[in-house]
This record gives sequence, C-alpha cells and structure tokens, in this order.
Amino acid sequence: MIKQLCYHSRIKPEAGGRVLSVFRDILKTSQRNNQAQGLSGYLLFDRTYFAQVLEGPAAKVDDTFARIKADARHSSVTIIGTRDRSGRQFGGWTMGGAALEVLQDREVLLSHGLDVEGWQHKLDCRGLIDVALDFAHKRASNG
Ligand SMILES: Cc1cc2nc3c(=O)[nH]c(=O)nc-3n(C[C@H](O)[C@H](O)[C@H](O)COP(=O)(O)O)c2cc1C
Repeated sequence: MIKQLCYHSRIKPEAGGRVLSVFRDILKTSQRNNQAQGLSGYLLFDRTYFAQVLEGPAAKVDDTFARIKADARHSSVTIIGTRDRSGRQFGGWTMGGAALEVLQDREVLLSHGLDVEGWQHKLDCRGLIDVALDFAHKRASNG
C-alpha cells in the first residue's frame, strides 16, 4: 500500500528571489530527496499558491510532509486529503512540477471545472491528482 497526501499552501512574499526560481529550487531539492526516500509526486504552482501530491510509503510521506510543513518559504499549509492506494500514480516523477501560465494553462483548468482564480481551493485530493496527471502528461509530451 502507498499513501497519497494532498495539500495546498501559499508562497511567502519574503521567500527570497524571484518566485519561479524559488519554485525551481524546491523542485530540485525535492527530486533529490524523494528519489532517496522512494517518494514520488507532483507540484503545481501559480506564482502564489502551491498544490502538491506526495506519494509513497506512509511513514516516508509523513516524515517528508512534516519537513515541508515547517518550510519558511510558504505558509497556510492546508491538507486537502489523503488516500491509500495499491499503486502509485506518479511513478515516473520523483517530483514533477508545473508552473501554471494564466493564458496557456487556463484551458486545462477549465476542462477540470476550475479557473485561474481559486483553483486550489476547489480541489479534493482526487481532483488535484487528476489535474496534476493532466499537467504531467501534457508537459511530458510538450517538453
Ligand atoms: C511547496 C514545497 C514543496 C516541497 N516538496 C518537497 C518534497 O516533495 N520533498 C522534499 O524532500 N522536500 C520538499 N520541500 C522542501 C523541504 O521543505 C525542505 O526544504 C527540504 O526537504 C530540505 O532538504 P535538504 O535538507 O536536502 O536541503 C518542499 C518545500 C516546499 C515549500
């Protein structure tokens, strides 16, 4: 069994540097650590809000989430939900990531019944996973 944990949070304005470089730094660290921990997942970022799916053995997910929650680069960390599953859905991604672009990505959000404003608040864990998988496959095929 693996555990999936979904949450959203808000970047702190004082996180330092440009928001997209903060995002890229987080992805780089996450990919390195998650590989070592046997974790996988996906991180969405719209320059204000993060929404992340983290999956793997429950104890590893919980340990890593405790570290993430304490990270000073974001606040208002809110768990959306957790799920137990027999297999992974993000096996190809130690931590995939998509920085949402208001114009190009609006269509994808709309196709999930979401919009660029408030998307992160409307999702349950399953909904976030569906959106993240959509971005994961689109970004993978579009480079
Ligand atoms: C939105 C967000 C998502 C993060 N996701 C992960 C993650 O999936 N895995 C991880 O190891 N660290 C993640 N981090 C970073 C951790 O909070 C922490 O900085 C990092 O694990 C410390 O690793 P280091 O000691 O190797 O620098 C995330 C941080 C933020 C703000």
